[in-house]
Amino acid sequence: MEGVTDAPMRALLTEQGSFLFCVSEFLRVTDQVPPTSVFYRHIPELKQQSLTPSGTPVLVQLLGGNAQKLAESAIRAVSLGAKGIDLNFGCPAPTVNRHDGGATLLKYPKRLFEIVSTVRGAVPLEIPVSAKVRLGWSEPDDIFENVEAVAKGGASWVTIHARTRMQGYAKPVFWDHIRRVRELRFLPVVANGDIWNFQDFLKCYELTGCEHFMVGRGAVGNPLLATSIDSFFQKKAPSSQFANAPDSPGDWRPFVERFVTLSQTHTDKPEYIVRRIKQWVKLASIERSLPWFEELKRTQTLDECLKTFAV
Ligand SMILES: Cc1cc2nc3c(=O)[nH]c(=O)nc-3n(C[C@H](O)[C@H](O)[C@H](O)COP(=O)(O)O)c2cc1C
Repeated sequence: MEGVTDAPMRALLTEQGSFLFCVSEFLRVTDQVPPTSVFYRHIPELKQQSLTPSGTPVLVQLLGGNAQKLAESAIRAVSLGAKGIDLNFGCPAPTVNRHDGGATLLKYPKRLFEIVSTVRGAVPLEIPVSAKVRLGWSEPDDIFENVEAVAKGGASWVTIHARTRMQGYAKPVFWDHIRRVRELRFLPVVANGDIWNFQDFLKCYELTGCEHFMVGRGAVGNPLLATSIDSFFQKKAPSSQFANAPDSPGDWRPFVERFVTLSQTHTDKPEYIVRRIKQWVKLASIERSLPWFEELKRTQTLDECLKTFAV
């Protein structure tokens, strides 16, 4: 998630070993292949076999509409060690869409096919090439044609955020469409959208029948969420500790302190870390009440910020 799941956040969230893999923030490809330095800046894990410090593979996400340049960028990513390539056809940002990137491609299934097949053909077969989509630009039923296109292009799997571009992040999320796509058996389907807690996951699991789930904001807002989902699949009952999101500042403290330590290896700007912590808690407070966020918002230095979490 662009601006959210940077390398320190990926390191933190994968520390419990519950994610099968994670995906980088998107790297935009226009008419130039991004230089190696840009790959390293966005995905420092490439220098460590494309693994987070705890050993979770990181896939490189590319965004753009130029099939050839995306393929060349994928070749570069793989030459730098990427464990897989994910193609972003879901970003709803107007500037990205105006420049032929993200969800705008959902209007053109033939272009989805062209992009996926060109990238697929460019990188070794053992490197997965996946696609991240929304249901459509404005029409949820466009998902069927779009997924058929990415499947025919050779995508290893598709991750479906069950909203249209025009919906932005507004409710409802159409998990039922994910089920209907999965039942067509074009390719493996990863369900995504509005899994904020373990109960949401169970509903999504029942409604979609999927075996794989991508958790975004929910995983950031509750660093224990992926562990509770993983333990469900390991047939261990999720413990109440895992089912409950950290709510009080004291609950958050160990995560925040760890995040600061991890961030300090990437930046020497404490004010940047403060901004990231505020953004993090803001995301978490979308779906649950964290009244102390008001106090956190007013802090300026890292010391002041960390005092909010002192118990
Ligand atoms: C701030 C923000 C940045 C995002 N950046 C990306 C991105 O770079 N690539 C991507 O595939 N999805 C991105 N997304 C979308 C999420 O991956 C996900 O599809 C969406 O938030 C719905 O899932 P969730 O409810 O689990 O968060 C972003 C979402 C947000 C809120």
